[in-house]
Amino acid sequence: MTDVKRQLLDELVASGIERREVRWIIEEFLRDDSSRSVANVRNAVERRVNGAPLQYVLGHWPFRELDLDVDPRALIPRPETEELVGLALEQLAFGNSSTPLMLDLGCGTGAIGLSLLFELRERGIRARLVCVDASSDALDLARTNARKYDLTAVSFVRSNWFDDVDATFRGTFDVIASNPPYVSALEMLTLDRVLEYEPRDALVAPDAMGVGGFADVEHIIRHAPTWLSPSGVLVLEHGEAQRDAVAATCEQSGFSSFNLFDDVSGKPRMLVAQR
Ligand SMILES: C[S@@+](CC[C@H](N)C(=O)[O-])C[C@H]1O[C@@H](n2cnc3c(N)ncnc32)[C@H](O)[C@@H]1O
Repeated sequence: MTDVKRQLLDELVASGIERREVRWIIEEFLRDDSSRSVANVRNAVERRVNGAPLQYVLGHWPFRELDLDVDPRALIPRPETEELVGLALEQLAFGNSSTPLMLDLGCGTGAIGLSLLFELRERGIRARLVCVDASSDALDLARTNARKYDLTAVSFVRSNWFDDVDATFRGTFDVIASNPPYVSALEMLTLDRVLEYEPRDALVAPDAMGVGGFADVEHIIRHAPTWLSPSGVLVLEHGEAQRDAVAATCEQSGFSSFNLFDDVSGKPRMLVAQR
């Protein structure tokens, strides 16, 4: 470590940020010993001190095998969602399509869909992906992430869930994967203030069926069967208090079978449903 780095580290740790975070910020922004580089480090630490999430300060963050660009245009991808991608990959391994067609609903950074496309490409499988989001900002970020990994078999659609997805895709998706907003407006008031840096529309959903934040999860479960191929699967993340409502909605929506999964911390969080 150079003298400049060591001095900066000691000085900036005193601002109250964890030492390893300061180290990461220095690694990211201290390109040389110039005053401009040092100023970039100080600005980044100041943003962090003021409460910005580390991921937004650094501007990129690992998700499974990708290093995704992240910024306030989209939700920071969460570790639980990495598990959702794992479930989707397992389903594709059992599926009978050699060129699977996938839909990522509410793609944000593109974390789910682009990871699927990337990891399938590594296995020699040529999949195709449609990424949907209501936010054009999020779609722009997802496009950047697709370019970063030269993932070209993907189209981006601005849509309120399925509304503007091309009707010719009905009955064709091998996998629909989604991590929709599922926090209720009431619950949002009690959560960590750091969430205020993320787009509210990425987190908060209206209540439905008497369940807080359930409206988007419900909408996706009810409409997915129409868009899935005959052997297609819906892989969906949901809120931990929503499992009973998820099961009830699946039963009413014509899926042939479904399974519910806990995340690594044992919380009921994921659905895999077969058309
Ligand atoms: C919880 S974030 C998930 C982002 C990303 N898939 C991930 O897991 O990191 C939910 C995403 O759904 C999008 N979204 C919210 N309402 C939507 C709607 N009505 N139609 C389409 N996308 C929507 C948000 O813009 C946001 O990008």
